[in-house]
Amino acid sequence: MSDTILVTGGAGFIGSHTCVALAAAGYNPLVLDNLCNSDLRVLDRLERITGQRPGWIEGDVRDRALLDRVFAEHRMAGVIHFAGLKAVGDSVADPLGYYDNNVNGTWVLAQAMEAAGVQTLVFSSSATVYGDPDRSPIPEHAPCRPANPYGRSKRIVEETLGDWQAARPGWRVALLRYFNPVGAHESGLIGEHPQGRPNNLMPFVCQVAVGMHDRLMVHGNDYPTPDGTGVRDYVHVMDLAEGHVAALRQLQKAPGLLTLNLGAGSGLSVLQVVQAFERASGRAIAYEVGPRRPGDVPAYWADPSLAERVLGWKARRGLDAMCADSWRWQQGNPNGYA
Ligand code: NAD
Ligand code: UFG
Repeated sequence: MSDTILVTGGAGFIGSHTCVALAAAGYNPLVLDNLCNSDLRVLDRLERITGQRPGWIEGDVRDRALLDRVFAEHRMAGVIHFAGLKAVGDSVADPLGYYDNNVNGTWVLAQAMEAAGVQTLVFSSSATVYGDPDRSPIPEHAPCRPANPYGRSKRIVEETLGDWQAARPGWRVALLRYFNPVGAHESGLIGEHPQGRPNNLMPFVCQVAVGMHDRLMVHGNDYPTPDGTGVRDYVHVMDLAEGHVAALRQLQKAPGLLTLNLGAGSGLSVLQVVQAFERASGRAIAYEVGPRRPGDVPAYWADPSLAERVLGWKARRGLDAMCADSWRWQQGNPNGYA
């Protein structure tokens, strides 16, 4: 019988792609999600892609009684914990809401796991824990200076899960620091559908390409970067998904604490992304250069070599695939799963 993995937040962007990778690797994903930022119809799409409908539990990760029931009813080989809130601006407006969801949610989950004897946990952290780094590529031992409540919520979880793993050495914990996830499954059946006006670059570019906005606002072109626009490490969401499977496999081999960057290892500017998207879509992307966005860092990218050494994982899909797959999803699903 295949191992069942509880995937909290599995209806969301990265979680749904990870369900595909888990199924491909022979695991049996069981999704728990409160649908605060996702759509239940993603399950139909996952069934079309994998030929197997993931298990489904609608609920909140902070609901301890629910978690106790779930762990009592299913024999779980591990948990991948995506459930959380991720909008930096909202976290500034509602820090306690963010700490409750992201920090308290993880603590409730870890306590329920301990009570149930499930000791394998993969956690969604973020490159945002580094804040404005001194240099790139960023290794995992770089100082962590998160600059907003969202970033601090991720860092608090990292530190407290580190304390927990030290106190319970039988536990197997992976803290995965994602850089900028973009793209979609190559089928075009699942992808990212932000609610309202997208904050992030790739979804906004996609919406310009289909005419939902007349132009992209480039947030500054006076940064100390080759073309003056912001530089980030974009990583294809399916590479990221496969990174979770690799982390899970590694944890199943040995107890311990892994802290790993998941990024492509190179930086791309806003204009490089725009040009690649134009090539992939055959559409012109109109843009205007505006002022810098408050809180933005000029440039950073990952040193992903530790993940390659420890997990044998590295990002394989390049910028052209990220753009082509985003575009396929956008064209086929202009209203998301609706
Ligand atoms: P997403 O919003 O698409 O997915 C998160 C899912 O969690 C959603 O389906 C949402 O409904 C669910 N959820 C939120 N709070 C919940 C709760 N209390 N109980 C149950 N379900 C809950 O976001 P995503 O981009 O897939 O991100 C997944 C994780 O990765 C998040 O923890 C996020 O902070 C982290 N992360 C994302 C990025 C990124 O740029 N997308 C970068 C670094 C880290
Ligand atoms: N950008 C634009 N125009 C837009 C949107 C973005 O020019 O309409 C630029 C940004 O200024 C930045 C780059 O595109 O230079 C990438 O911006 P994103 O918003 O896509 O991504 P960020 O790197 O700003 O944010 C990501 C995650 C956050 C996380 C942050 C930490 O989405 O969750 O990294 O650095 F907090």
